[in-house]
Amino acid sequence: MKRFSTTLLAASLLTGVLAAPAAVAAPPADDTRPPGLAKKDTLRWFAPEDFAIGTAVAGGGHHLDQPYPDPFPNDLEYRELVGTEFSSLSPENQAKWEFIHPQEDVYNFGPMDEIVEFAEEHGQVVRGHTLLWHSQNPAWLEEGDYTADELREILREHIQTVVGRYAGRIQQWDVANEVMLDNGSGLRTTDNIWIRKLGPGIIADAFRWAHEADPEALLFFNDYGVESIGPKSNAYYELVQDLLADGVPVHGFSFQGHLSTQYGFPGGVEENLQRFADLGLDTAITELDVRMVVPQGQQPTEAQLAQQADYYTRMLDACLAVEGCDSFTLWGFVDKYSWVPVFFPNQGFATVMYDDFTRKPAYCALQETLAEASGKIKHPAFALRDC
Ligand code: XIL
Repeated sequence: MKRFSTTLLAASLLTGVLAAPAAVAAPPADDTRPPGLAKKDTLRWFAPEDFAIGTAVAGGGHHLDQPYPDPFPNDLEYRELVGTEFSSLSPENQAKWEFIHPQEDVYNFGPMDEIVEFAEEHGQVVRGHTLLWHSQNPAWLEEGDYTADELREILREHIQTVVGRYAGRIQQWDVANEVMLDNGSGLRTTDNIWIRKLGPGIIADAFRWAHEADPEALLFFNDYGVESIGPKSNAYYELVQDLLADGVPVHGFSFQGHLSTQYGFPGGVEENLQRFADLGLDTAITELDVRMVVPQGQQPTEAQLAQQADYYTRMLDACLAVEGCDSFTLWGFVDKYSWVPVFFPNQGFATVMYDDFTRKPAYCALQETLAEASGKIKHPAFALRDC
């Protein structure tokens, strides 16, 4: 985003809301909000025009092993919030290879179709995720005995089929996900089947095929651990410059943003976004969550909740401050569906709502920051109470 400076009001805000978890308070008797405003009391409503505030749409992946039915089609309360709170949707797993292409000659488009249709019905944009990754690939692909030519053809066919199916309906695609080694010493040449078997040039091909299939979609590199300026983000900075110099259709670079309160907030996020923007790229925050260590059976402390709210807000502030950072996505918004407890033992509470959809300080801080950025604070007391 850009053009307005945001100041964190979290301190004053948090003082009033740290009593959570509890039911959302009813508006006070002296409430002077215009009728109906409470219904617009959402992240989406407060966000600036043209600033997409997104969520991952829960389904597939780790959810398949949990004792509940697939969330998006089945949990109506959840589904309603997906529609009202957000203006951008990302399939959490429903467009990954193992989900959408489970057998070599079988595509499973139903759940992704449903997300795209839901988004259109609710005036939302969609981020496609993802086309070239080392993880969540189907066994037929990873264990198949294909020649390099065959593999290349498999990737081309997949990208053109999936991207082509949703052409004109996807705002941004994460074409290449997590292709860089964590220490920035180079691309993942071992665990990424495409790079291992076809060489690094396959990345440029993936972008070209995606662009052919949907010339309107903005095509991204997406990764974790790149929020700060450092070896890994530097490696991307060089890679992207090389690809742009070769005329490869790369349009964006995005930070996943899987953060934890046990570590410091990443330094220089805004500067880092800005240097990619200065290359002419769009930027985005695509998978934000802020986990914390909480012993089994206990609740987060007020200090942890305040730190979490601060991290969420600082990430949003950084994006709002940079021109071309117009998409800000939470990797889920309710703890009960978060991937975090499944992948990070003893950690959790990473999203902005408790299991019962009660809002945490982080939710309120995001809403407040968006309201301040858009100027949509109707009257002074409004955003600071009964969030
Ligand atoms: C996670 C999903 O949330 C889980 O449901 C799934 O079991 C594993 O993947 N980086 C990414 C996301 O790019 O696709 C991952 O999503 C989280 C890390």
